[in-house]
Amino acid sequence: MSEYKKFVGTEEIIEGVLSKPSVFKAKEKLYPEYIPPSLPYREEQIRLLAQYFKPLLYSPGSISQRVFLHGPVGVGKTVTARTFGNVFTLKAKSKGINLQYIHVNCHRDRTVYNVVMEIAKHLRIPLPQRGLSAFELYAAILEYLEDNDIYVILALDEFDYFVKVSGSDALYFFIRTYDEYPEYTKRISFVLIGRSLTELNSLDSATSSYLLRHMIAFKPYTSKELKDILKQRMKLAFWEGTVEEDVISAIAEIVGVDKGGDGNARAAIELLLRAGEAADYEGSPRVTLEHLRKAYASLAGIESSSYMIIAKDMILHLPLHELLIYAAAIKALKRSGRQYVRIGDVESEYEMLCEIFGERSRGHTQVYEYIRDLKQRGLIDTKTSGKGYRGRSTLIGIFNVPLDQLEKEVLKLIEQYTHKR
Ligand SMILES: Nc1ncnc2c1ncn2[C@@H]1O[C@H](COP(=O)(O)OP(=O)(O)OP(=O)(O)O)[C@@H](O)[C@H]1O
Ligand SMILES: [Mg+2]
Repeated sequence: MSEYKKFVGTEEIIEGVLSKPSVFKAKEKLYPEYIPPSLPYREEQIRLLAQYFKPLLYSPGSISQRVFLHGPVGVGKTVTARTFGNVFTLKAKSKGINLQYIHVNCHRDRTVYNVVMEIAKHLRIPLPQRGLSAFELYAAILEYLEDNDIYVILALDEFDYFVKVSGSDALYFFIRTYDEYPEYTKRISFVLIGRSLTELNSLDSATSSYLLRHMIAFKPYTSKELKDILKQRMKLAFWEGTVEEDVISAIAEIVGVDKGGDGNARAAIELLLRAGEAADYEGSPRVTLEHLRKAYASLAGIESSSYMIIAKDMILHLPLHELLIYAAAIKALKRSGRQYVRIGDVESEYEMLCEIFGERSRGHTQVYEYIRDLKQRGLIDTKTSGKGYRGRSTLIGIFNVPLDQLEKEVLKLIEQYTHKR
């Protein structure tokens, strides 16, 4: 017998990871930069964009359009502008018009010079590297557009950064390009993208009144809308049947604006991605609610281990029977694999646990009292049953902690209590 410890070869380790099956068939379709084939619930915004930019196709050069898109974080402003730009420029092409859509992220490009260079790069205009000011370079670009019969829609995304760094004069400079030369062919139009209307306050009144004329609002998504958006992504990114239906509903409920979330589609899609990664990490063939709980705990900025410390702290002072009910809820949820269970199921688990630990179970009213307390402490979530359940009853769910770990901690405490007696 060799006394040397046998180590696993590097190739074997890598091979093991590579050959491991995955729930994803195209993970990149969940990444923020991916543009989906359709944008559910943004039809009206696309229709308005088409309406506002229609003159560019029917009488090109007649106007320099300015449209302002606004809405809170993750509601599809960027993806809608890009999608519109891609499709609209193709339409122009089919009409023999050379229209280019240029999307500038002002978070990165905050000066006139940066923006001008982005335009030059997109159009592959050879510009002298030295000697010209940003304004002169812009003039050179306008000339190039004229000489080559090109039209441009310039999107300034997160334009508030541009204004903060370069001032509102700089923005004024762009969007009023043609005011001084009304006889010129108007070759550049603008889409401005911002988080809220108050961003217009930092602009002078002439500029903001320009923008106020053509505004398109983006509202936070409801849970129903998110559900459809998530289903679309699920079909694109995961192998069929690998994501449990409840996972999609649960994400939609956490994030939906009607359920107290912020209606942010980016956050919803990221949760789905992380839940899938948690499933892959464990080698699970399906993405379950438990994977989602783990993803959620990690995204909330709390490592699940330190999260457990917080949860442990909170349960430390609960009376024994409240702990038993908490454990019963965890068991019932694990058993069902669903997002919520009926209070009746929790009660029967509770009675079983009482028997196991040799405790006399408390009556109905007391049980309800404990459940109300658990809810107030934020340890469980309750709601009244609606569709999909027979009769009306209280439903119980636990969201923010992985149940496996939680169950261990709660049972450990219960054992400590009961052994002392
Ligand atoms: N209606 C939709 N259908 C499909 N995917 C969507 C939809 N709306 C948003 N998304 C997706 O959600 C994510 C966030 O969207 P987007 O980046 O456009 O938000 P935003 O409004 O620009 O947010 P921010 O203000 O943070 O820049 C992207 O991955 C995008 O593809
Ligand atoms: Mg954006």
